[in-house]
Amino acid sequence: MAPIATEIQRLREEIEAHNYAYYVLSSPTISDYDFDQLLKQLERLEAEHPELITPDSPTQRVGRDRTEGFTQVAHRYPMLSLGNTYSYDDVREFYERVSRDLGGKPFTIIAELKYDGLSISLTYEKGLLIRAVTRGDGQMGDDVTANVRTIRSIPLRLRGTGYPESLEVRGEILLPFVEFDRLNAERHRADLPLFANPRNAASGTLKQLDPAIVAERRLDAYLYYVPGQPSLPDSHYERLQLCKSWGLKISEATRRCHSLEEVLSFLDYWEQARAEAPVATDGVVLKVDSITEQEELGYTAKTPRWAIAYKYQAEQAKTRLISVDFQVGRTGAVTPVANLDAVALSGTTVRRASLHNADFIEAFDLHIDDQVLVEKGGEIIPKIVGVVTEERPSDAQPVIFPSHCPACGSPLERNEGEAAYYCTNQATCPPQQTARIEHFSGRKAADIRLGAETIDLLFTHGLVRSIADLYRLKLEDLLQLPGFKERSATRLLESIEASKERPFRALLFGLGIRFVGETVAKTLVQRYANIQALGAATFEELTAIPDIGAVIAESLVHYFASPENREFIAELQRLGLPLSRRPEEEPLPTTDHAAISGKAFVISGVFTHHSREEYKALIESLGGKIASSISSKTSYVLAGANMGPAKLAKATDLGITILSEDEFLALIEPHEGEQPAASTDEADTADLPLFSNPS
Ligand code: IVH
Repeated sequence: MAPIATEIQRLREEIEAHNYAYYVLSSPTISDYDFDQLLKQLERLEAEHPELITPDSPTQRVGRDRTEGFTQVAHRYPMLSLGNTYSYDDVREFYERVSRDLGGKPFTIIAELKYDGLSISLTYEKGLLIRAVTRGDGQMGDDVTANVRTIRSIPLRLRGTGYPESLEVRGEILLPFVEFDRLNAERHRADLPLFANPRNAASGTLKQLDPAIVAERRLDAYLYYVPGQPSLPDSHYERLQLCKSWGLKISEATRRCHSLEEVLSFLDYWEQARAEAPVATDGVVLKVDSITEQEELGYTAKTPRWAIAYKYQAEQAKTRLISVDFQVGRTGAVTPVANLDAVALSGTTVRRASLHNADFIEAFDLHIDDQVLVEKGGEIIPKIVGVVTEERPSDAQPVIFPSHCPACGSPLERNEGEAAYYCTNQATCPPQQTARIEHFSGRKAADIRLGAETIDLLFTHGLVRSIADLYRLKLEDLLQLPGFKERSATRLLESIEASKERPFRALLFGLGIRFVGETVAKTLVQRYANIQALGAATFEELTAIPDIGAVIAESLVHYFASPENREFIAELQRLGLPLSRRPEEEPLPTTDHAAISGKAFVISGVFTHHSREEYKALIESLGGKIASSISSKTSYVLAGANMGPAKLAKATDLGITILSEDEFLALIEPHEGEQPAASTDEADTADLPLFSNPS
C-alpha cells in the first residue's frame, strides 16, 4: 500500500478504537480535543485523496445527502412484538408454561432490561453495515440507514472475526435522558413544541430527512436479538456475547436465570436500579436461552411463545395540591403549574408538576387541597394522573383558570385549535418582556453576559424594557444599580457592544420570532442577506425553501406585517445592529442563468457525470432552488438513473419537465454573447423600501 493509504488506514483504526471505547464501552481513552484532531487529520488526508474514501470511514457517518423520504423494505424475518405481563403471577405462569411445553427438562431464561425506544434491524454484509430498517408494521419498515449511520455506538464495520457473511441484529434506538433534556431545553428556547418523552424524541429524530440533524441529537442503541443464523451458537446469551466481541453494544444488565426465583429477584433488583439507567426502560424481557427450545416453543400470530415482557408500573405517589401558579412565558402563553406537598417519587423529591393547560384542569375538576396522584413515566417532568375525589375536603375551592393575565391584567385569548391561552399584551407584559430579553441575550443569540436576575434588576429599575434598551445603556446608569461596580458595568457594556458583531443568523434567532429556531434562522440567512430582504419575502417564496413549511412562513409573514415589529427592527438598526449577513456567512456567489434562475428543481436518482451534491450546488449557484419533493411548484425534475416509478408518475401527471443528466448539462451550457446576471441577493434587496435605512 502507498504510504498515504497506510496512514489513512492507521488513522481510521485509531479513531474507531477510541470511538468503540467511548460509545460502546463507555470508557474514553482520549480527550475530546485530541479525538477531534485525529478526525480532522483524517478528513484532511481524505480531502486530498478522495479516491481513498471508503463508506466505513469514520468521516462518512454523516452523509451529505438529505433523503426525500424513506424507502420501504421487507423484513427477512418479521419483527414481532412481545406478550406483556404486569404481575409476578403472570411471570410465574409463563415460567410454568415454558417448563411444561419443554416436557419438564431444565432450561435457562435470559433476563434483560426492556428498553423503551424504537426497534431497529441492522444488516451487516461481510462486516459492513449496509442497512438499518425500522419495525414498521412488522413486515415492512422504513430504510433509515443514512440516519442510523450517525449513531456512534453502532459500528459501520464489525470488529474481530468470525461474524457471518450476512448478519442481521436487532435492537433498540434510544435518546439518552441527558440528550433529551438538552434537546427539549433548546426547543423551549426556540419556542418549539417539546417532546413528551425520550421515545417520541428518538422517533421524531429518526424520521428526520437530514442526517446532519440526526447526528446532532446523539442517539444511542442497544442490540438484543439475532434472528436466524443456524451456524451461530444455540444460545441467545452466547450470541449476544459474540455480538459484543464484534463491537456491537449489548446491555450489561443481562442475567442467566436457572429458576423462577432468580427471575423474580432480577425483576426486584431492576425495579429500583433502572432509575439510574442513562436511557428509558419500562420493564424486563425474559427469553428462553436455547434457540432449539425457542423453535420448539414456537410462535403465536404476533408474538414468540418463548419470550415475554414484564412491564413495571410507573411509580405513583399521592400528595396534596397546595396551589397553582399561572406562569407567563416569552410568547405570552400561560402555563399552569401545580405546587405540591413534597413527596418522594422514583428517587427524587417532587414539589411541582405541570398542569399543561386549562382543559387539563377542567378534565380533572381540580380543587385546591385535593389529594392528587403524580407519576413519572418516560417523562422527566412529573405529571398529575388522577385526583382522589373521595378525599376532597368539603370546603375545597375549584382551581379556576384566570381570564386575565396574572402578570399584567390584560385579557387572555385562545387561538383557534390551540390549547393554550395567551396574554394579549405582547408589548408591555413584564414577564414576556424580560423573557424576550433573556432569550435575545442567550449564548446562541446575541451572547450578552446577562443573567435572568440582572435582567430583572435592569427591568425593575426601568433601565431596560426592551431589547433595544440594552443598546442605550450607559456606564452612569449601571453604576447607580446595586451590585454594579465599574468593572462589572464595563464588562456588560463591552459584551453588549460585541453583540453587534454576532452572525446574522444568531441575532435573527434572538429576535424570538415564533417557530424561528436556530436551524430555521440558519436556513433563512442562507437565502436572505439581510432583514429587509427577509421581511419582504412572501408566503409563497418562503414555503418554496426546503425545510420552511407553512407554519414557519405564516409566522414570519405575520411578524413582518406588524408596524410595531418593523419599527422595532428599524430601531435596532439605528442603534447599530446590522441584522445582515456577516462576511463569514456569505454563501458562494451566485451567477444567474436565464434557464435556471428562480426555477424549482427536484433531484432524483443516481448520476454519472457529477454527484447529486454537485448538481445541487450547481443549480443553486445558477439561481435555482432545490426542493425535496415534487409538487405543482416544481419546474424541473433532474432525473438520474433509478428514479422511483412513483416519482416519475407524479412528475408526468403534473406535466413537469423531466431532464436527464445530459439534457440538464446542455441546458446550462453557456450560449455565446450571454452575460451572467447580477447576484440574486443584491437584486433582491436593492429596491425594498420596507424599513427605514439604518444609516
Ligand atoms: S426481543 C422476538 N429484547 O420491545 C423478540 N425486545 O414489545 C424480539 N424491546 O419490538 C424482541 N427491549 O422494540 C427484545 N431486551 C429486549 C427489548 C425488546 C425492548 C422492545 C422491542 C420490541 C418490543 C416488544
